[in-house]
Amino acid sequence: MDDARAQRPDAALIAALEGADIHPLWDRYKAITPIAPSAKDVPYHWRWRDIEPLAHRAAKEVPVDDIERRAIIMAHPAFGGATVSTSNLIGAFTVLEPGDRARPHRHTAAAIRYATRAEGAVTIVNGRRCEMHEGDLVLTPPMCWHGHINEGKARTFWFDSANMPLVCNLDASFFEPGAPGDSAFWEVDEGDDRLWSEAGLVPAGAKPDGAQSPKYRYPGEATRRLLAAMKPGADGARWLRYVNPATGGAVMTTLDCYAGRLAKGAATRARRATHNAVCLVAAGEGRSTVGDKTFAWAQHDVFTIPHWTWASHTALSGDADLFVVTDKAVFERLDLVREEMQ
Ligand SMILES: [Fe+2]
Repeated sequence: MDDARAQRPDAALIAALEGADIHPLWDRYKAITPIAPSAKDVPYHWRWRDIEPLAHRAAKEVPVDDIERRAIIMAHPAFGGATVSTSNLIGAFTVLEPGDRARPHRHTAAAIRYATRAEGAVTIVNGRRCEMHEGDLVLTPPMCWHGHINEGKARTFWFDSANMPLVCNLDASFFEPGAPGDSAFWEVDEGDDRLWSEAGLVPAGAKPDGAQSPKYRYPGEATRRLLAAMKPGADGARWLRYVNPATGGAVMTTLDCYAGRLAKGAATRARRATHNAVCLVAAGEGRSTVGDKTFAWAQHDVFTIPHWTWASHTALSGDADLFVVTDKAVFERLDLVREEMQ
């Protein structure tokens, strides 16, 4: 006990309480009920030019048959060596050689893939073939079987994000490997994803299982078309949300994704929110100010926006596109969404 605490009139009582594994509220209420969120991490920026050579090395040095997944994960030092990019989320890149198959598995964590340089790669999700053309988003909702294959002639790369840190903090992670050598797993077509592929149309009476999106693949071509058609906001930015077509809400119960197009030279209105975000630069280059940090980014860089941290973005040489994955859906379900604009 430090001097100040030892001199308190209630010091003996506090010591007796602590000795009985009981805490008084009154000497530590600020720790028990903080007045506002305080992220452990500052924003972090990983450059594709630093990531890329390491991804190439991983492809050359580690055979995919020896490992579950050939992914390299962005780990923020603020989390003490844990594999966490920002609270609740990880961002990563997966690299596959031509012919590589990352064998099927499933888990309770929710994940997404966003195709960066993935032409020729395919993700199979619950028996549906999801191609991975530039800018395609593929969902792997909790407990959906998923595997990846590179059917092309070139090494492929894509961006992944998932919420293993959240699920592990809740100690609710379950993981099941698929049967090795199950060739039937790969021999599928797009299946029921066709039922959900037309904007504004849903099958009458369809009752998707559970609360996750029944649509697994969101083509980049459609994303770019809508971004081009949208009217910009007052700050020049256009933002679209990927939604579950059956509900109009977030694509998964725990992950909520957005795409943005920033106008050259116009800073977006600064915003902070209780949820966390991992941003991938889909195209272009620019600069963001997140909290006290300002950094310049280029295509396929990744940066984080920790919760309750002011963030503003500016495209520099032309328009720039961001893909943003967040845990906002978790906060919606807990009624903890709070957002402020400057
Ligand atoms: Fe997985």
